[in-house]
Amino acid sequence: MDAKEIIVNLGERSYPVLVGSGCVNEIASYVRPTVKKVAIVTQESIGVDIETGKEQKTFYLPIGEHGKSIETIKELCSSWVNWGLTRSDVVIAVGGGMVTDVTAFAASIYHRGVAVINMPTSLLGMVDAAIGGKTGVNLPEGKNLVGTFWQPQAVICDIETLTTLPEKEWKCGYGEIAKYHFIGAGDLRGMELELQITECIKLKTDIVAQDEREGGKRAILNYGHTLAHALELENQFSLGHGEAVAVGIRYAAQVAFALGRIEESRVQYHEEVLNHFNLKYVLPSQVDAGRILALFERDKKAQDGITFVLDGENGVELVKVENQNILRNALEVIQ
Ligand SMILES: NC(=O)c1ccc[n+]([C@@H]2O[C@H](COP(=O)([O-])OP(=O)(O)OC[C@H]3O[C@@H](n4cnc5c(N)ncnc54)[C@H](O)[C@@H]3O)[C@@H](O)[C@H]2O)c1
Repeated sequence: MDAKEIIVNLGERSYPVLVGSGCVNEIASYVRPTVKKVAIVTQESIGVDIETGKEQKTFYLPIGEHGKSIETIKELCSSWVNWGLTRSDVVIAVGGGMVTDVTAFAASIYHRGVAVINMPTSLLGMVDAAIGGKTGVNLPEGKNLVGTFWQPQAVICDIETLTTLPEKEWKCGYGEIAKYHFIGAGDLRGMELELQITECIKLKTDIVAQDEREGGKRAILNYGHTLAHALELENQFSLGHGEAVAVGIRYAAQVAFALGRIEESRVQYHEEVLNHFNLKYVLPSQVDAGRILALFERDKKAQDGITFVLDGENGVELVKVENQNILRNALEVIQ
């Protein structure tokens, strides 16, 4: 096995992110010797075999964003209690961002906190969701409205698990990779997959180490996400998260242009990069602009006016946008 280890530097909560082919076989070495039981949480479509050498049991989550709910957390915690999982044991989340978000959230509140190891199996999970300690579930009112910060003990990214990933999910991963391209990872086009993943992870771990709880810099990881979250809700999740992020990135460029923060050529550059990654950036036809604007208001980052991460001459930064007409017109441009 040829794997790279990147450390998330968070003092006593620091942890390694392992990236490579075949590193699933390393997982047992990240399970503490004192652990008696290992709860593996995954989905039936994933099918990655985990061998920890401990007493272990697999728990299955439903598929799709609708399963990312408080009800799922309750059921998962109850099944852990019934199996006798204690606070000194460990939970391993094996799946995409839905599985790692839900499992780590449940782990963070189960017996007031049990250790979790993330093993992302989607491209989006590897470059983003499994790293950084943000956990959560959706409410009918919005995405990720309930959650915690709970850092994993380790993150194991085995590139070989991606061989079964459906086409749509590759697109979703590339939506997030396009985001990293614009927020400081450099030009990620034309690199080998493993290197693209590693470069994104390096940037993410660096940002998380600087701002674990999103008090400042970490917000740039939400580039393209304000519209993405609204689209996912408006479209009843028929658009995958990363696909929605791609549309959100193009939209953010349009808003930045309308505010005089970037030139038209920079907007075109956004389209070039999205095209390179084979991503669509047109607003789905059935989307209602009025509802999208209302959903912006409700986004959890809307503390004081609607905030967007926008490109500009100093790179991307958090900007408050008060002019609703700019937001509405930019939606029309990307239709
Ligand atoms: N916590 C964070 O910092 C963070 C960051 C970004 C995204 N997210 C969250 O991540 C979620 C999206 O994650 P996602 O795009 O991975 O979606 P997902 O977890 O829903 O997975 C998408 C589909 O791919 C399948 N799948 C995953 N890995 C597979 C594999 N190796 N082989 C075959 N099928 C596989 C899953 O079963 C599912 O059907 C969203 O809920 C989003 O809010 C969280």
